[in-house]
Amino acid sequence: MNVLDSEMVVASLRKRGYELTDQLTDADTILFNTCSVREQAENKIYSALGTLREFKKENPQKILGILGCMAQKDQELIFRRAPFVDFVVGPGQLQTVPELIEKAQAGEKRQMAVGRSRTDGTLEQVKRTHETFDPLRDPTMRPTPFQAYLRIQIGCDKFCTYCVVPGTRGPEQGRPPQQIIDEAAVLAEQGCLEIVLLGQTVNSYSYGTNGEKIRLAGLLRQLHDVNGIERIKFVTNYPKDMTVDLLETIRDLPKCSPYLHVPLQSGSNDMLKRMKRGYTVEDYREMMDRIQAILPEAAVASDFITGFCGETDADHQQSMDALREFRFKNSFIFKYSERPGTSAAGRLPDDVPYPVKQERNNELLAVQNQISDEENGKFVGQVVDVLVEGPSKNAAREENPGPIRQLTGRTPCDRIVVFDGNERQVGKILPVSIYDHLPHTLLGNIVTEHIGPDVVSLQLQ
Ligand code: 5AD
Ligand code: SF4
Repeated sequence: MNVLDSEMVVASLRKRGYELTDQLTDADTILFNTCSVREQAENKIYSALGTLREFKKENPQKILGILGCMAQKDQELIFRRAPFVDFVVGPGQLQTVPELIEKAQAGEKRQMAVGRSRTDGTLEQVKRTHETFDPLRDPTMRPTPFQAYLRIQIGCDKFCTYCVVPGTRGPEQGRPPQQIIDEAAVLAEQGCLEIVLLGQTVNSYSYGTNGEKIRLAGLLRQLHDVNGIERIKFVTNYPKDMTVDLLETIRDLPKCSPYLHVPLQSGSNDMLKRMKRGYTVEDYREMMDRIQAILPEAAVASDFITGFCGETDADHQQSMDALREFRFKNSFIFKYSERPGTSAAGRLPDDVPYPVKQERNNELLAVQNQISDEENGKFVGQVVDVLVEGPSKNAAREENPGPIRQLTGRTPCDRIVVFDGNERQVGKILPVSIYDHLPHTLLGNIVTEHIGPDVVSLQLQ
């Protein structure tokens, strides 16, 4: 979400003649787009601000702005901790950034543009202060020119007890389908092959009233018809909304990736209840059975939180069991971080000591790595379609690269593949034959194009 938000802000500033720089000394304006899901992310920003204190004193004309969820959550607190910040903008007010910069240049201090809190007005009034301005796109700010995020949903109404998102990104709102289709067509025109649909609970997407309600399955069917788009992924999913209709739609639409990120969070029903996730491990198992029956090729990924309030060793062991049972393609594993304003922070003590959270985190990671490695092993000997993204991390560091380099890309089920190739193959979907694997990488060779006819002609000669 934040990568996409940054793309929008950069696009709106470019329209006004701004250019990006990674040199602090060159910049007229310095913007931090922030996350507040865990405390550590916020600490990084406050510490970066600390290092800018002197710089801003010496260069008062340089404008400094804080954007995103931490801005929405901390508001005035940011000015108290860093009084030299010029403005604070929530994720629903990002369209005001150019104007705020101008006003700051004109001398206005400590401006704040944030969304209303849930209790600050009617639902409609609150929603209007959590809007986005998505149609502005900037191809240079994308992960690659041929991949783009496309937001289909804003906010979240699930209110998991540990999570700040329903507070910082406001009420759940599906974007109108026509806007989404039009944006996909613009992206395709810009050369985009893969779109990644974004929503906090993307498979809960819904737009319109009862008679004409459109859900994610219907939206996928419409997006499938957009010429030029070859792959459609969507993150992140909510287990309860992984319906048969949605799974059958993914199965029937060849452009839809069989990659399903559906966070379980914990293998203990007590924890899931305390997290207010709205499902049990048994419900999750039924969902996995549905996926297995309809989409046996699917790669399912998860998130886990270790050391949530009151988590016992027995609860933790149930998360270990769940990992072993569900054999996720990968899992993102986080240590619980108490967040002010969440319902857990108000009423559940953060009582698992940090070293225990850490140890449980390591244990889950070790099991997940082994499973990821084993699951990747099943691809050895297979040919997979890879969207070639660019030079691999190692190759990108080479000083004088030759024409043949190590490239990286992804399969439809989101597995990373590394192989040797020519730079001109970047941005294409090519068959790659897998000969080896690591826990999070497949190693392969590009299958030579047109090998069939060449072989035939050789035989004829
Ligand atoms: N502490 C730790 N992890 C969290 N997540 C969300 N809130 C917290 C928190 N307070 C994790 C969840 C979610 C992912 C995006 O971040 O696992 O799925
Ligand atoms: Fe946070 Fe839960 Fe919403 Fe995900 S579903 S954004 S974890 S409240």
